[in-house]
Amino acid sequence: MSELLTNIGELTTHTEEHGTLRDAAVVIDDGRIAWIGPADRAPAADTRDDLDGRAVLPGWVDSHTHLVSMGDRAEEFIDRMAGRPYEAGGIMRTVEATRAATDDDLRARARWLRAEAYRGGTTTIEAKTGYGLDVETEQRLARISAEHAEVVTYLGAHVVPAGVDRRAYIDLVTGPMLAAVAPYATYIDVFCEQGAFDVEESREILEAGRAAGLGVKLHGNQLGESGGVRLAVEMGARSVDHCNHLSPTDVDALAGSDTVATLLPACDLSTREPFPPARELVDAGVTIAIASNCNPGSSFTTSMGFCVATAVLQQRLTFEEALWAATVGGATALGLDNSAGRISEGGRADLQALDAPSARHLAYRPGVPLTHKVWSSGNPV
Ligand code: NIG
Repeated sequence: MSELLTNIGELTTHTEEHGTLRDAAVVIDDGRIAWIGPADRAPAADTRDDLDGRAVLPGWVDSHTHLVSMGDRAEEFIDRMAGRPYEAGGIMRTVEATRAATDDDLRARARWLRAEAYRGGTTTIEAKTGYGLDVETEQRLARISAEHAEVVTYLGAHVVPAGVDRRAYIDLVTGPMLAAVAPYATYIDVFCEQGAFDVEESREILEAGRAAGLGVKLHGNQLGESGGVRLAVEMGARSVDHCNHLSPTDVDALAGSDTVATLLPACDLSTREPFPPARELVDAGVTIAIASNCNPGSSFTTSMGFCVATAVLQQRLTFEEALWAATVGGATALGLDNSAGRISEGGRADLQALDAPSARHLAYRPGVPLTHKVWSSGNPV
């Protein structure tokens, strides 16, 4: 069954061949993009959707979330807004709520957030474990994440749970817990930060994950110059996420590497951390991604549109740079750059249409729910 999307006012493809087209059309066939071009030359299809001049762009690729987690930390958020600093220790509150939840509770929560993300235009999502911190719960989180996300990341090394011996916990994370979670995961991640894991511990944990066949990611330099960014580059990590506190050496190291710097603007606002130097990173040639970091503690939003608008309005990225980072950048951070983040012939039909003539309205009209329609593998969602 083929479908013609026609009368597209502005089509952002992120491909060299088509770039950005006006008065365009797209044909979807069997979940894939079959044709892209001017509306007046479009081939016939089984069905037709007239988009009446609306903008169409690739679905968002949200490369950093903690989708499967429970609880509400609004009080902690309100305290932060009143001046209390963000601390890694708050993670244990989400761990308690998550451990107490049944599989059905966790599934209901993941379905709710995934539906919310779809409604906002997100068509590819990564989900991290990290709120179980025991073998059984980490495995449950990985299993349920795999049902609701395209990519699963193992984050047993989020913090050392209260009352647990540090060395024993690292042995668990690199031993039985890794073995239990690895079948569901593509990446291993570690929170390399004061109050979580130091550089040497992080290296040991990531090496164990790599030996088990997982790719490497890090939470680095969120609350200070933790050394996480340099470790990420040294280990050839796929991405290093947060990057709020970067020295010139960190920026140089990222610029000379293939490691993606993932920016999390909603988290920065919610934790009142200084924004990463996004402009400097892009100017230095670093590949950046923008993601939501959806979790109940530090960033309880699925809205990639909000993150893109913030990156433009407050982090001095151009709109095109932010759009790229939230699509192709996210796909690169997940190793999916050949299959997500672009609208290309033969590629998966993951698209969003906006109630606006140009994608730029996402930043120009911040906070306005502009999503008109979303297609995931060619199916309206
Ligand atoms: O990416 N920084 C570490 N971990 C998560 C959320 C932590 C939390 O629950 O407070 C993050 O922000």
